[in-house]
Amino acid sequence: MKSREAALEAINQEIAHCTRCPLHAGRTYPVPGAGPVAAEIMFVGEAPGFYEDQKGMPFVGRSGQFLDELLAGAKIDRQKVFVSNVIKCRPPGNRDPQPAEVEACRGYLERQIAIIQPEIIVTLGRHSMARAFPSEKISLVHGQPRRVAGQLYFPMYHPAAALHRPSLREAVEEDFRRLRALLDGQLTAQEYQPAPKSEQLSFF
Ligand code: URA
Repeated sequence: MKSREAALEAINQEIAHCTRCPLHAGRTYPVPGAGPVAAEIMFVGEAPGFYEDQKGMPFVGRSGQFLDELLAGAKIDRQKVFVSNVIKCRPPGNRDPQPAEVEACRGYLERQIAIIQPEIIVTLGRHSMARAFPSEKISLVHGQPRRVAGQLYFPMYHPAAALHRPSLREAVEEDFRRLRALLDGQLTAQEYQPAPKSEQLSFF
């Protein structure tokens, strides 16, 4: 049986040769994700940007610098968390991921989660949130820990949103304080009850 490290590395190799969607043609490097296989917290962003594409590493540009500050503020060691994205190749001009691209990449993220088995998945932005909470609005659920099918999630705004909209910055900082409280056992998660189909929103 493969070790968990080897299983993650096998996914990285598949992503390196992936041609499942047209984004592979424009990439410099794919960005599979980075961090220890035994990470207790997994952050899932949206898609690589310019600098991530240049380096093959997640969150190393402006959003990444802000994420580093937020992690430091919450006393979370970036070396101990796994950081990944919904899609692994940069969309042109940093546009939103398209449904077909999310679908093409879905298996990679699912397999990463299955191998890492994080205690908490922190979703950054609505595209990441939509995997677990397809019918929710990020403005209503950010900062609220929720359990879905046994997995604990903590949805947050994307750091880039706070960089573009200063009014969101305080919300993002407060969410990181709440994440710290969750880790310290001072905040409890609710079981997630999806809204009835008729009330569900769709992003796509
Ligand atoms: N934004 C993301 O969603 N992911 C990255 O890796 C970088 C910026």
